[in-house]
Amino acid sequence: MNEAKLIQLPKILDERGNLSFIEKGSGIDFDFKRVYWIYDVPGGEVRGGHAFREQEEIIVALSGSFDVVLHDGITECRFSLNRSFIGLSVPRMYWRSMQNFSTNAVAMVLASTIYEEDDYITDFENYLQLKNKNA
Ligand code: TYD
Repeated sequence: MNEAKLIQLPKILDERGNLSFIEKGSGIDFDFKRVYWIYDVPGGEVRGGHAFREQEEIIVALSGSFDVVLHDGITECRFSLNRSFIGLSVPRMYWRSMQNFSTNAVAMVLASTIYEEDDYITDFENYLQLKNKNA
């Protein structure tokens, strides 16, 4: 199974301001069908708290910082994102939440699927059962 990993995105340094981009290839091996972003998160709030059956995603802290907490069915790990040239690649079937948002944090998510409510697994015990069944 694929593992969650940090991806260094291209960074074009320029005195006028830096530029980064994401395109297919260069470590990103799925087609994006959707982009969404999370912003204006009140202090202490937690987003996510679910897994996706099919959706893969790349999460970038476009502004500010936040933590992405991932559980693979066995262990939990935490990625602190605070650079707009670093992407976190999250394969399907990871339980994930996003927390510790700083003021003005903007989380951009590139998703491999369009929005489908049925793709969500929102019960952690159900997630563990499905994960172990397919292990
Ligand atoms: P949700 O994915 O549950 O947010 P989070 O994982 O950050 O807690 O989505 C919150 C609401 O937004 C939910 O009612 C579905 C809706 N939504 C869309 O309509 N389209 C989308 O692309 C996303 C991500 C969410």
